[in-house]
Amino acid sequence: MKFGTKILHTGADYDPTTGAVSIPIHHSSTYDQRGEQTREYVYSRAGNPTRAALEETMAVIEGGDQGFAFASGVAAISSVLAIFSAGDHILVTKDVYGGTYRVLTEVFSRFGIEFNFIDTCDLTNIEESIKPNTKALYLETPSNPLLKVTDLKKAVSIAKAHNLITLADNTFMTPYFQQPLQLGIDVAIHSATKFLGGHSDVLAGVVVAKGEQLCQRIGGIQKAFGAVLGPQDCWLLLRGLKTLKVRMDQHQKGAMSVASWLKDQPLVEQVFYPGFNTHPGHKIVMQQASGFGGVVSFVCKDWEVTKQLMKNVTIPVVAVSLGGVESILSHPATMSHAAIPKKERLELGISNNLLRLSVGLEEPEDLIQDIENTLQ
Ligand SMILES: Cc1ncc(COP(=O)(O)O)c(C=O)c1O
Repeated sequence: MKFGTKILHTGADYDPTTGAVSIPIHHSSTYDQRGEQTREYVYSRAGNPTRAALEETMAVIEGGDQGFAFASGVAAISSVLAIFSAGDHILVTKDVYGGTYRVLTEVFSRFGIEFNFIDTCDLTNIEESIKPNTKALYLETPSNPLLKVTDLKKAVSIAKAHNLITLADNTFMTPYFQQPLQLGIDVAIHSATKFLGGHSDVLAGVVVAKGEQLCQRIGGIQKAFGAVLGPQDCWLLLRGLKTLKVRMDQHQKGAMSVASWLKDQPLVEQVFYPGFNTHPGHKIVMQQASGFGGVVSFVCKDWEVTKQLMKNVTIPVVAVSLGGVESILSHPATMSHAAIPKKERLELGISNNLLRLSVGLEEPEDLIQDIENTLQ
């Protein structure tokens, strides 16, 4: 079954008791336990029927054994990282999302978890950085905001030779374009706030894992930490997911048009988009994904141009986040990656003149016209 059909018929697409085609929002914290009857649900931190429908849907479309829904992308990332113990060492993609950097350096470091941020585009860095206590490889591809690409299959084969658990943040691609679990990754992580939800109206995180033991460990943390997604937000995500394919196709079409146009603008110095055949990761994306996504990053000629763009564009909202139906223009240095110290940020290429555009569902011609008017 093709993705566009599967996402609408996952098996969790209607309510088994009433037949309702929109999954009911079960606003219940607890469930009656009188008598001999044993019920599937006991308490909503451990399980909720609306959340279960979302988790099952995600497991089906990511091709994993079990899905887990969390209160935000960062809650999902933190809950997965919490399966590790003091003394464990984790290798992490260098230009990882700023919030992932923050939770590792400011929180997990205090609990004795060790980590190194490495450029995973160069696979030799992975092999050379593995230590006796390395337990996991955490990847983000394409990375936020510079859209650097890591070869998932090759990274997995190095990791597996050293018995590492492999984790991949799949937020930018979504399972429509990229399915890390099919490439050997053990755990796929999403900020569902972005393309999965798609409407800038819900904060959520989703994890899909493979293997009974790993699922049990993540499920255990989900229950113990309790950073679960509420039923109303689960429903919003379930609704957003139904249109994921058509939205992603349109996001990508728009991104390609805008990126190609930006490349020819004298006030724009550099454009990052994995869909360009000149992008260093293009060939790898062609092998491991079925699309390039809807995010384009670009470096403006100077701070004045950057500032004027942020001040005067009328179609995109200038804001943190991405993946909404509306275009979103972000300034990574002061927004998504503000948690990374300036020196490291600049070394990564996240300068003050870098902008990230999440291309929405507007007509690309209008978006281009808007940016052109601003540049002029
Ligand atoms: C790649 C990536 N992962 C994780 C997150 C964190 O997600 P949330 O904001 O839903 O906590 C973000 C947020 O921007 C992100 O871009």
